[in-house]
Amino acid sequence: MRTRLIAGNWKMNGSTALINDFSSAFADVTLPEAVDVVVIPPFPYLDAARQAFRNTPLQLGAQTLNPIDSGAHTGEVSGRMLKELEVAYVLVGHSERRELYRESDEQVFDRLLAALNVGLKPILCVGESLAERDAGQTMDVVLRQVGYAMARLDPEQRQQVVIAYEPVWAIGTGRTATPEQAQEVMAGIRAYQAGFNTALAEQLTLLYGGSMNAKNAAELLAQPDIDGGLVGGASLKTDDFYAICQSAG
Ligand code: G3H
Repeated sequence: MRTRLIAGNWKMNGSTALINDFSSAFADVTLPEAVDVVVIPPFPYLDAARQAFRNTPLQLGAQTLNPIDSGAHTGEVSGRMLKELEVAYVLVGHSERRELYRESDEQVFDRLLAALNVGLKPILCVGESLAERDAGQTMDVVLRQVGYAMARLDPEQRQQVVIAYEPVWAIGTGRTATPEQAQEVMAGIRAYQAGFNTALAEQLTLLYGGSMNAKNAAELLAQPDIDGGLVGGASLKTDDFYAICQSAG
């Protein structure tokens, strides 16, 4: 049985008030038993979230990390620091990092490895742009991104990685991939992993991301290769996020 996971990526949004809203809203709820739920606020809110979420089932995630442990890197945050704040998951290779901050596959891999080395669970984000989809390059792009990282890991490390498929054209646009479109790509990712090891592929937790919301989550999460969601906009509202978590059960 694979871990099911709903992760709410707040991106550069949120406030201490929103942390408190989540803390209250999730204090007395029963989440589906086999579903991990992670909130990923900006760095400055991690410590407040760590304390406020103590009485909730919410786990903590971070949005990125620097590949090295410490040093003269103004503005950066290392995996060791995140571990100290009880962060469990960290995103690597989000398309906004790849696009806006020019992170290459190589840099994404360095972050992935750094996360694994300190015991953080990396969520490796992959996905094609609209131009790439229109040019029929979806699988090539996605498997290049997945393959660059996976081929460089050892079997033990591969087991720790969660992969999020986020078609770039579906992020923040309200234009969700159809369940069939998402399923097709995600089945392809799982098949690629099976090339390393079939048991590993069966255990791999695969998330869909891109305008997932309370209305469309159930249908997406019903697909055989979709084990959870990486949720942006809808993770900023307690009711919507809670409804998505319930859909994953
Ligand atoms: O990390 C989350 C994704 O980029 C999805 O964002 O749900 O706002 O489309 P979105």
